[in-house]
Amino acid sequence: MVLQRLALFLIYAFFWAFAGFIGDVDSYQRPPPRKNVHVHPLADADPASPQQVHISLVGQDKMRIKWITDGSSPATVDYGTSPGVYGFSATGSTGKYDYLTYDSGEIHDVVIGPLEPNTVYYYRCGPNPGPEFTFKTPPPAFPTKFVVIGDLGQTGWTNSTLQHISQSNYDVLILPGDLSYADFYQPWWDSFGRLVEPLASQRPWMVTQGNHEVEKIPVIHSEPFTAYNARWHMPFEESGSESNLYYSFDVAGVHVIMLGSYTDFDAESAQYKWLQADLGKIDRGKTPWIVAVVHAPWYNSNSAHQGESEADDMKKSMETLLYQARVDVVFAGHVHAYERFTRVHNDTADNCGPVYITIGDGGNREGLASKYEDPQPRISVFREASFGHGQFHVVNQTHALWTWHRNQDDVSVAADSIWLNSLSSDPACKI
Ligand SMILES: [Fe+2]
Repeated sequence: MVLQRLALFLIYAFFWAFAGFIGDVDSYQRPPPRKNVHVHPLADADPASPQQVHISLVGQDKMRIKWITDGSSPATVDYGTSPGVYGFSATGSTGKYDYLTYDSGEIHDVVIGPLEPNTVYYYRCGPNPGPEFTFKTPPPAFPTKFVVIGDLGQTGWTNSTLQHISQSNYDVLILPGDLSYADFYQPWWDSFGRLVEPLASQRPWMVTQGNHEVEKIPVIHSEPFTAYNARWHMPFEESGSESNLYYSFDVAGVHVIMLGSYTDFDAESAQYKWLQADLGKIDRGKTPWIVAVVHAPWYNSNSAHQGESEADDMKKSMETLLYQARVDVVFAGHVHAYERFTRVHNDTADNCGPVYITIGDGGNREGLASKYEDPQPRISVFREASFGHGQFHVVNQTHALWTWHRNQDDVSVAADSIWLNSLSSDPACKI
């Protein structure tokens, strides 16, 4: 018996010593990808029931409401500032699209307003009676808070990210591309719409496109962005753009430029000319902060997505435009990890250049990109392959706090954070 206990003790001792050794080598086990979660419609739902409701900003004081119904339904939204009391009504348009053998439901698009800032509205989509939704408009002035997530997808990690975001009390969500990861299978766009509805019906979700939105198949379906353009109508008309793939908007004192990495961006392109004109119209007195958003990152020390034209050639074409306009921050997705660079221009640290941040770690099914260039470039300040989201809290015209939150941490913990000073307040960066 004594010998048996001694043998058992030695086995345990060996195990713990070995486990300790392993722990010292790699104490953090990188979370693996999680499976897709598909959200199906309710089996007994009325065909006119609104699904996939999401909202987006339109100009200074309006909101676009989009939703989908399986059956026929009017494109009307009733709304007001008290629950169940709808003193206002607006009518919009209804469309649909085909993709191979898939026929979409009816896609409704209604712009409501003018709306009061920083106000909770209650609204109902389609015929009476219907479920009541609610949203809050952004504040008219600082402070304001953005949430930023890229490459979201629809997995267990997406759920975790959404849960963390729901506790952040943000005003506007920015998504730098790669939304549903439907990847040609259109019912997954519907599933994604249902998954994000609880949040996307409450706060404006402002998105730009990634490579997963293209969905172009040579000969069979030659039109790109069919589902994306039909489902996620952004306010390009209001910002002088001719394409849903790039546009801009203002929130409080922040001008946000949503660029398109998967459309033309060379110096002769419509996007380039639009960007020049948009930057030229900015009044830094009204919007002291400028944020730009792309999908493929211009600065990236991860092994993933190196040498892609959408990153390198777009950077060559447009980087100096953003630098000369003193853009404060450039957000990107595409690489499934988090990385923050210092202020940089032309691959060199520059106090008047933007801070470049890759935030493509929303939670999609492809998993994390965990290999990095070694050694870490000096301009790369912080990099880590974990799922998470970012918060950009613009406090006033001179100061903003950027924080990155891992999914495995409590939301109150910031794994990376930095206070930024606006370039418009820096005399050394005067244009
Ligand atoms: Fe991507």
